[in-house]
Amino acid sequence: MLEKIKDLIAEVEKISVDTKEKAEELRLKYLSKKGVLNEIFAEFKKVKPEEKKEYGQKINSLKTLVESKIAAAQEALEEQLSKPNDLDITLPGPNYNLGSHHPITMVKNEIIEIFSRLGFTVAEGQEIEDDYHNFTALNFPPEHPARDMQDTFFIETNPDILLRTHTSGGQVRVMEKQKPPIRVLVPGRVFRNEAVSARSHCIFHQIEGLYIDKNVSFADLKQTLMYFAKEFYGEKTEIRLRPSYFPFTEPSAEMDVSCSICGGKGCGICKNSGWLEVLGCGMVHPNVLKNCGIDPNEYSGFAFGMGIERTAMLRYGVTDIRMFFENDMKFLSRFKY
Ligand code: DAH
Repeated sequence: MLEKIKDLIAEVEKISVDTKEKAEELRLKYLSKKGVLNEIFAEFKKVKPEEKKEYGQKINSLKTLVESKIAAAQEALEEQLSKPNDLDITLPGPNYNLGSHHPITMVKNEIIEIFSRLGFTVAEGQEIEDDYHNFTALNFPPEHPARDMQDTFFIETNPDILLRTHTSGGQVRVMEKQKPPIRVLVPGRVFRNEAVSARSHCIFHQIEGLYIDKNVSFADLKQTLMYFAKEFYGEKTEIRLRPSYFPFTEPSAEMDVSCSICGGKGCGICKNSGWLEVLGCGMVHPNVLKNCGIDPNEYSGFAFGMGIERTAMLRYGVTDIRMFFENDMKFLSRFKY
């Protein structure tokens, strides 16, 4: 019998009591009326008086062991149950990373915001264009060498359809639908069949501006662009307009801004010139107005177009245009605001 009790002690020691059910099972098996301990007590009565002490001690330790196992399990369970009450619902929740705008979107929105103060609204052009809107209506005659300035992706089965090479076609679409006065921006993605490098990409973004009204002059163009340059690049920014050529504007110009990195003194970014080329512009060519059903004797206007990647590179000091397309989180997370 002594052996049996020792075995039972060893058995109980091994049991893990981690649920209510297991604790109850243990109680029923050992402590209930028909339980093991009562059986043992019954047998204990038959034990010789001189052995009673030893037997009694062993039985007691079995009983205490069972009771302490049950008590410990209950305590643990109670503690577990009381945990939800410890939940502090005022603690801050897990930290979800908020998304942010892509730097191209941020720059685009900022440009739109500045021009919207001057009454410009936004129109959508279309990425898949026809030759007429991308070239012909913009005064690029067929076979004109200026078409080669922009290496074009044509649709193989129909070379009349192409991926727009610039947002200027958006001007035509707006003028076809809307009577002057017109003040509109056309932002969007453009495509050119060019090798991808740190400085150029086959996909990029531009924003086009168009202003048509009576008596619009080159002075209005210059003033508008100067306002933009100071708002976007900083109060101290200076601009200069260099004569240039675009088929859809006459006269045409390219605008430089004084380098905001070195303040015009000359640095690596401005190639020591003190100036950064930021956009093309000019007075809308009378042929373009005519093509869009606007009388050039009654109305005049100006247009401008700028690359958003280039603008963003200057704004944020990004030296490789490809970064804007790689969606590298390390790069993009620099532009939280
Ligand atoms: N479309 C020209 C380009 O992609 C940019 C441009 C120049 C747009 C002069 C204009 C403009 O509206 O007047 O290079």
